Amino acid sequence: KTGMFTYDPGFTSTASCDSGLTFIDGEEGVLLHRGYPIGQLAENSSFMEVSYLLLNGELPSKDELDTFEFTITRHTMLHDQLRQFYQGFRRDAHPMAIMCGVVGALSAFYHDSTDISDPEHRKISSHRLIAKMPTIAAMAYKYAIGQPFMQPDNRLSYTGNFLRMTFGVPAEEYEVVPAVEKALDRIFILHADHEQNASTSTVRLAGSSGANPFACIAAGIACLWGPAHGGANEAALNMLHEIGTPDKIPEYIARAKNKDDPFRLMGFGHRVYKNYDPRATVMQKTVREVFDALNVSDPVFEVALQLEEMALNDDYFVEKKLFPNVDFYSGVILSAIGFPTEMFTALFALARTVGWVAQWNEMISDPGQRIGRPRQLYTGPEKRDYVPIAQR
Ligand code: SDX
Repeated sequence: KTGMFTYDPGFTSTASCDSGLTFIDGEEGVLLHRGYPIGQLAENSSFMEVSYLLLNGELPSKDELDTFEFTITRHTMLHDQLRQFYQGFRRDAHPMAIMCGVVGALSAFYHDSTDISDPEHRKISSHRLIAKMPTIAAMAYKYAIGQPFMQPDNRLSYTGNFLRMTFGVPAEEYEVVPAVEKALDRIFILHADHEQNASTSTVRLAGSSGANPFACIAAGIACLWGPAHGGANEAALNMLHEIGTPDKIPEYIARAKNKDDPFRLMGFGHRVYKNYDPRATVMQKTVREVFDALNVSDPVFEVALQLEEMALNDDYFVEKKLFPNVDFYSGVILSAIGFPTEMFTALFALARTVGWVAQWNEMISDPGQRIGRPRQLYTGPEKRDYVPIAQR
C-alpha cells in the first residue's frame, strides 16, 4: 500500500517494517520518493529539496526550502578537535575507513543532540549529519592527498560547497562549474534513499536499540562499504578499466556467467529490481551532459555502453533479469569530475545520509517502535552433554 492507492507489486516480501518514504516496484522499475517518481525529481528538483521531502513528507514552499538550506548551511563546520582525529589515520587510509571513524566520533562531540527521546535533539542531530557529511568526506580526500583542509563557504550551495572543499585550495579562488554542480547534485538525488537496502536496515536495527544517531549512521557507512552494496560503484569503474577495450567484453561476460568463477559484473543486477534501475537511466544521460560540459570523453564510457548492450542481449542476463543498477555509470561521471575511485563510495554515503536519517527518524518517532530482534533457522548439533577433556 502506498497511501493513496494500493500498488500490488505482485510479490510477497518478508517486510521488515512499515515505511512511507520510498516505494520500489522492482518488476516495473519504479522508484518513488513520497510518491514522486525519481526521474521527475532528478530532472526538476535539487538535493536539498529532495532532502526536505524525505524528512518532512511534502515538497517545501520557497520559504520552507530557504529556511531548511539556511539551517543546514549553519551546521557544515566540524568541531576543530575532529581535525586532529584525521591526523591519526595513515595517509593511504580508505576514505570509508575515515568516514566510519569520524562519523562515529561525532557522538563524542555533540552531546546536546544525542537524547533520542527529545524531538529537538533528533532534529538537530539530523541536520548536523546531513550538513557535516560533505565536510567530512572532503577532509578525507584532502588528508589523503596532503592538501590543507578547506573550511565550508556558506555563500555556496550544498553541492557547490562540497566541490570547493574537495577541489579548491587556499591559494586561489575556486570556480564552481554550474553543469558539474548540477550533475553532482543530481547524483546525490539518485542516491538519497532506497527503501530497506542493507545499509538502511543496518541503521534501523542499530537505532532500534536506542543508540545515538551518529553511531547509527556510522554503522550504515560500514555496511554500505561492501562491494555488493555501495562499494560497487568503485568496483564497477575498476572493472571497466580492467576490461579496457570493447573486444575484451565477451571474455568478462563469459566469466560472469561461469558459476565456478566468483567474478560478477559490477554495477549489474539487484536484489529488488528485475527491470532497469530507473536511476541508471538518469545516470547514463548525465554522463553525456558532463562530458559535453567539460568537453571531455573517456573510452571507458564506450566500454560501459557496449558491455550493457551485449549483456542485455545475452540469454543469461535476460533470464536472470540482470540490468545495470545505480552503480554502473556513476563512476564514469565521478571520474570525469575528478574524484578518484576510492572516493566514490564516500560520495554514496554522503548522499545516502539523508535517507538513513529520514528512515531513522521515521522509526524512532513511531510510538510502537521496539528493538529489532531477527531470529534464525538453527542448523547446529542436537542437545548433547559436556565431555571432559581427558575423554576427548
Ligand atoms: C546497491 O538494495 C538496494 O537497494 C541497494 C542499492 C541502494 O540504492 O541502496 O540499490 C545500491 O547496492 C546496488 C547493487 C550494487 N552491487 C553490484 O552491482 C554488485 C554486483 N551485483 C551482484 O553482486 C548482485 O546482483 C547483487 C548483490 C546486487 C544482488 O545479488 P542477488 O540478490 O544474489 O541477485 P539475484 O538474486 O538477482 O541473482 C540472480 C542470479 C544469481 O545466480 P543463480 O544463483 O540464480 O545461479 O544472478 C546472478 C546470481 O549469482 N547474478 C549475477 C550478477 N548479479 C546476480 N551474475 C553475474 N553478474 C552479476 N552482477
